[in-house]
Amino acid sequence: MSTIIDLRSDTVTHPSPAMRQAMFDAPLGDDVYGDDPTVNALEQLAAAKVGKEAALFVSSGTMGNLCGVLAHCGRGDEILVGDKCHIYNHEAGGASVLGGVAYHPLPNTSMGEIPLDALAGAVRDPDNLHAALTRLICLENTHGGVGGIVVQPSYMAQVKAFADKSGLKVHLDGARLFNAAVALRADVREITKHVDTVQFCLSKGLSAPIGSILAGDAAFISKARRLRKMVGGGLRQAGVIAAAGIVALNEMIDRLAEDHQHAKVLASGLNSIAGISCDVARTETDMVIFTITDGRDMKQFMAKLTAAGVLVGGFGGTSVRAVTHYGIDGNHIEQTLEIVRKTMSN
Ligand SMILES: Cc1ncc(COP(=O)(O)O)c(C=O)c1O
Repeated sequence: MSTIIDLRSDTVTHPSPAMRQAMFDAPLGDDVYGDDPTVNALEQLAAAKVGKEAALFVSSGTMGNLCGVLAHCGRGDEILVGDKCHIYNHEAGGASVLGGVAYHPLPNTSMGEIPLDALAGAVRDPDNLHAALTRLICLENTHGGVGGIVVQPSYMAQVKAFADKSGLKVHLDGARLFNAAVALRADVREITKHVDTVQFCLSKGLSAPIGSILAGDAAFISKARRLRKMVGGGLRQAGVIAAAGIVALNEMIDRLAEDHQHAKVLASGLNSIAGISCDVARTETDMVIFTITDGRDMKQFMAKLTAAGVLVGGFGGTSVRAVTHYGIDGNHIEQTLEIVRKTMSN
């Protein structure tokens, strides 16, 4: 086999031909002066898509979440996060390191939720001078830490009602927000209407090479714009990359359904292989989590797949993660299943 089938993540996507052309043609200006017409167009389009007043183009999901949390919170404030979420586990503790914000982790359920009673029990008494001040609840949708599960809007509505009652704000890490909307067959605003602010990635499944969006009300975004400058994210002729983001939002959302379909086919094929267990019902979006049940050495298993041209990622213990994306077609899925079958029979 000559090509590598890279299923480690949907972050490995390359820009589409239309994106490359748009990047070439993009009208440019200095975005720190607010002069880049392509960035401005992307920010307007993105805000409208998610039903928020304003949006900010940032370099990455991590930068979007960081600027978001820091725009909501000051030093000595606390955020409630799920213990399996990306903000807590995979963003180098940025809100704490750079903003003096404390993380208060609460157990995530297997559906990516934080139970409401856990949230209620975690909010600090503002009159207790021993405690940090609870300011913000962070949700994630789809939830990567539990395998790309869609967090239901009905649950998010309950969290928002609780937050409003408690004087808290809700931020959504929607790195794969559009995967959730496509899986729900719903407009993305059915999800984002339940949060104050949202970060979503134009990279990953939407296939732009760089970039994320942070959206919220105008005052929040103007605060976040200052924070983006502070962390070195004020880019100049950023329209070169924003152009791909516009194509992502105009052309790449509906095709996420193909990735989800490929993931289902991969999941059910894997589950039919002796020594592998895969919960097909939990394959809701682009992530396939499967477990090796015959006791073989995981490192060796993954090394053999790599040697045969299939790249996957570890998901803790004996579990493996494979992610479908733009660039992976039905033939790649069949080839992957063939290679895994052969590897398991040795
Ligand atoms: C759920 C989630 N949030 C945030 C991020 C951060 O995105 P980035 O890699 O663009 O910083 C990721 C990246 O994989 C993610 O999976």
